[in-house]
Amino acid sequence: MDKESFSGFYKKEIKERQEIVSKEFELNDIEKALLQKEGPLPFEVANKMIENVIGTFPLPYGLVTNFVIDGKEYVLPFAIEEPSVVAAASNAAKLSSGFETSCDDPIMIGQIQVINVKGEEAKKAILKERVKLLEFATTIDPILVKFGGGPKDITVEVLKDEKGEMLDIHLLVDVRDAMGANAINTMTEKLAPKIEEITGGKVILKIISNLAIYRRAQAKTTWTKKALEESTKGQFKGEDVVEAILNAYRFACATQFRATTHNKGIMNGIDAVVIATGNDFRAIESGAHSFASYEQKYSPLTKYYKDKEGNLVGEIDIPLALGLVGGATKVHPLAQLSLKILGVKTANELARIIASVGLAQNMAALRALSTEGIQRGHMRLHASNIAVQASANKKEVEIVVAKMIEAKEVNQAKAEAILKEIRK
Ligand code: HMG
Repeated sequence: MDKESFSGFYKKEIKERQEIVSKEFELNDIEKALLQKEGPLPFEVANKMIENVIGTFPLPYGLVTNFVIDGKEYVLPFAIEEPSVVAAASNAAKLSSGFETSCDDPIMIGQIQVINVKGEEAKKAILKERVKLLEFATTIDPILVKFGGGPKDITVEVLKDEKGEMLDIHLLVDVRDAMGANAINTMTEKLAPKIEEITGGKVILKIISNLAIYRRAQAKTTWTKKALEESTKGQFKGEDVVEAILNAYRFACATQFRATTHNKGIMNGIDAVVIATGNDFRAIESGAHSFASYEQKYSPLTKYYKDKEGNLVGEIDIPLALGLVGGATKVHPLAQLSLKILGVKTANELARIIASVGLAQNMAALRALSTEGIQRGHMRLHASNIAVQASANKKEVEIVVAKMIEAKEVNQAKAEAILKEIRK
């Protein structure tokens, strides 16, 4: 590869970039076609979304069924590469008695870091000017204010490290149906000179915090013993499934190693809808995991207990900074389609749905893990992937899958051996 070929790469048209890549990496015709094939995200749009675009990268896009949230039926678009996640969420939703949710106002935090200050003095000075600063901040984004949002409060904390004291100023902003990063970053940047004037210090960072502690969504549901028993096709008693799930939950509460995987199971569903709606999954991920350790110890984002009848109750409480306006949500045609399928009108409704998905996804995995084990359901669905990887054609896939499941051996070597056998 010649490094020089990539100089000024960003200034080129997509077609020229594809030609450079084809030449530099000696792409064959099939590989060239992978770059050239335009999908639902037009090149023209992709080229405005990120830099140095050479193509688009599709993910499977599927629908999860059976969700009833606050009495309303939903089907949910998932964008995800992992088998069994869609089936598992649909299954947990089918077994649930419906989700009840709540959601905070969309308050996000903008952080301003001020150094070279005497902490307490500078803090007092800011708090004295709090109202004036808020009035000024309110003039920065009149459209947000018109829609009922805008700056709501300013709080200040003095932080100390080995180099001295600094201020951590939080500007709390109601961002309505936006994720909020643009509005917040503009406001904090415009406030910075005033903060320096008031404190005599130097502002360094002025940026949104992805720990959206004031913008959380909660969901709750019950899975009856009867539904859980039926889900095991009579292999386990309902009360035993409830106990098994509660024991699995205890494990997540007791060790961070399990809590991390427990939360990964939650994020399987959450990320899939976040991506399908063009939202920022890195912001959601970092916020969720930071919140999971907010009480010092990294903990599960869901909790489980029994009701009076011995049914399983599940709850989730999670920060969800989601937007319906702006960013990829606005420009990606599939994100727009996802919102249409969901039928959501506000970011608040989207957050309630996504919290419910996280809870359902988690229970689905815990139910499988604590009863039959994850491999049966997961591997059954993963098996077709393996069969394709082993070069099975359309007709062969089903046979290879069935034979691998029967042999309880789902791996590429087995798939290849079966193919060899059936092609004889
Ligand atoms: P099953 O009992 O064999 O399913 O479970 P079923 O055939 O009785 O069907 C029950 C329902 O599941 C169906 O209802 C569908 O809603 C749905 P119906 O429509 O028939 O009335 N369903 C499907 N939906 C779409 N496509 C399908 C499909 N099959 C069933 N092919 C199932 C099978 C996979 C649902 C079950 O075994 C399960 O939930 N397993 C858990 C799988 C899972 O959690 N996967 C996530 C990936 S593993 C991971 O990364 C996370 C983890 O590490 C997290 C953790 O440790 O906590 C595990």
